Amino acid sequence: MTKVTPETMDWDNLGFAYVDTGKRYRAYYKDGAWSPGSIETDKMVTISESSNVLHYGQTCFEGLKAYRTKDGAIQLFRPDENAKRMNRSAEKLLMPAFPEEWFVEAVHQVVAANADWVPPYGTGASLYIRPVMFGIGDGIGVVPADEYIFSVFVMPVGPYFKGGLKPGNFVISDYDRAAPRGTGSQKVAGNYAASLQPGMLAKKAGYADAIYLDPETHSKIEEVGAANFFGITADNHLVTPQSPSILPSITKYSILHLAQERFEMTVEEGDVYVDQLDRFVEAGACGTAAVITPIGSITAGETVYRFTEGDQAGPKLKALYEELVGIQYGDRPAPEGWIQKVEIS
Ligand code: PLP
Ligand code: COI
Repeated sequence: MTKVTPETMDWDNLGFAYVDTGKRYRAYYKDGAWSPGSIETDKMVTISESSNVLHYGQTCFEGLKAYRTKDGAIQLFRPDENAKRMNRSAEKLLMPAFPEEWFVEAVHQVVAANADWVPPYGTGASLYIRPVMFGIGDGIGVVPADEYIFSVFVMPVGPYFKGGLKPGNFVISDYDRAAPRGTGSQKVAGNYAASLQPGMLAKKAGYADAIYLDPETHSKIEEVGAANFFGITADNHLVTPQSPSILPSITKYSILHLAQERFEMTVEEGDVYVDQLDRFVEAGACGTAAVITPIGSITAGETVYRFTEGDQAGPKLKALYEELVGIQYGDRPAPEGWIQKVEIS
């Protein structure tokens, strides 16, 4: 297979797939301390067969993006929030913290090293950044590892859900992705392993993805695949679930802020009961990969709740999408501290 390069890349038709861009950041933890990280060229990692990550899933990750602006510059959207969330995940799995400023610096270094891979402005594509930390070393007991790798790699991506702003149809899953007092609010691998089968069943049945309910009562919406849910009422309320088993989406909190500050919407975090879904005139899934994906319909057993007319995103969701994406690509003013420019030498 010919290796893709930035020169041969088809920027307009990118999906969400791994690309070896040649440069990643790596740091190693041993004897109680992180080594200074550096850019490495080999995508492979060689680890002991007894590594905790392989058996007990001691690993957490993050996802954020770099965007090419109209003037050719490159910028990041709220990387400090990902740094904080990574350390909350690490804490839950008894992994060492990776200092926030190092995390942000690592992201800047990898993006700068792979600057040619940041898609051109106007293609709707971006550079997806995947920080990941995992427990390695010799040790087979169910205890935290002594050694860790922190890695950040990148790849150019298009929309995660096919169609971008085209509405997707989702189905309520019979299965849970997280336990009531488990790890649902952390970005840890086990949650995603648990979602593989329900996600596959939903896709096989012709849906974009599965919607997960609260694992305690199975009556309230929690997550839309690997994205958060929000609904918009006719009287301009933006409602999103609140639960200890939901991943706190940085995109979702950004949307809540914009809805309140720029669109005079009333924002609410609370219960979203499935049997009350008809109170919403529009609904969406949001996340770094999903951006804002309009929800066309939700199938709950025999009942189908619809939120769009044909293939068109609703007007309020569309306005929020344009504002958010406008900020990310540098076309609209960002709230203070949301955007960091990447220096390219
Ligand atoms: N929910 C889950 C389960 C996710 O994996 C993600 C992706 O990160 C999100 C929500 C969205 O979070 P964010 O907006 O921070 O990317
Ligand atoms: C993201 O939106 O960054 C995610 O992590 C979703 C991913 C699991 C595809």
